[in-house]
Amino acid sequence: MSTTHTTSAALGIPPRRLDMKFDAEHMDRYWYGQDPFLTLFWSSLSLLFPEGERFFVESVRHYRDQIQDPQLLQDIAGFIAQEAMHSREHEALNAMLDHQHLPAAKIDAQLHQMLTFIRKLASPRLCLAATCALEHYTALMGEQLLRDPRHQQMADPKMLPLWLWHALEETEHKTVAYDVYEQTGGGYALRVGTMALTTVIFFAFTAYTQVRMLQADGQLGKVRQNLRGLNYFLGPRGLFIGLTGKFFDYFKPGFHPRQHDTDALVLAWRERLFGEQGVLRDQVKMVKTRTVQAA
Ligand SMILES: [Fe+2]
Ligand SMILES: [Fe+2]
Repeated sequence: MSTTHTTSAALGIPPRRLDMKFDAEHMDRYWYGQDPFLTLFWSSLSLLFPEGERFFVESVRHYRDQIQDPQLLQDIAGFIAQEAMHSREHEALNAMLDHQHLPAAKIDAQLHQMLTFIRKLASPRLCLAATCALEHYTALMGEQLLRDPRHQQMADPKMLPLWLWHALEETEHKTVAYDVYEQTGGGYALRVGTMALTTVIFFAFTAYTQVRMLQADGQLGKVRQNLRGLNYFLGPRGLFIGLTGKFFDYFKPGFHPRQHDTDALVLAWRERLFGEQGVLRDQVKMVKTRTVQAA
């Protein structure tokens, strides 16, 4: 069990509010590479965020009273505020998907049911371990989106800021759930066992969501298009296949998310998005956080 807290949040975890507007009338329906499969993949992922991130917040909040480290308490406040803002902005995007006659509200309700069931069934420790596992996914994907220029070329400029901002903040707060898990006595076997279980559930639900979305959009039978889309993500030069090595680092006994050094990346993207010339500089409002002090 770790007793000292060395945070990636040496850079801080500043929550930012953006109030994005997503308007189906002024947005290309296929806003990612003009491709239905790829667009619906990102949309499916967006559907998982509001309920998923509320689950993360509750899982971490459950253990907040056991944390003594003032830096980690501050990081928890930043984490909770960032995730709350993500849920809010993805809800705005998901409302647009509903408007486009995609089953966004239905899938959100199903995910709510599933997570409520899991919360009843699983211990708080298991929920926190699942949060650590999923935060590993969001950290790896976030880092990838910031590093790989393909993503920035493919997404519509009206949609791209949501994903870059979310990717940046996932990178900023990637150590928080993990540190809470370690500092409250979470062990190795449960951490990696839960990663295996969570991966199965996460992939199954994402695949289910993607199929439902393709079906609702009349794209399910377009086999070549869908295989091309799968290849874009998981093929030999795919967007995500290069993450396999970093994914399996999680299974090393001494793993910590800070070992994937992203500080320079965070600083560069803060400047690109919110610096003097930042594309979101005029849009962003900083959110105040309330830190609960250690007893
Ligand atoms: Fe998030
Ligand atoms: Fe997160």
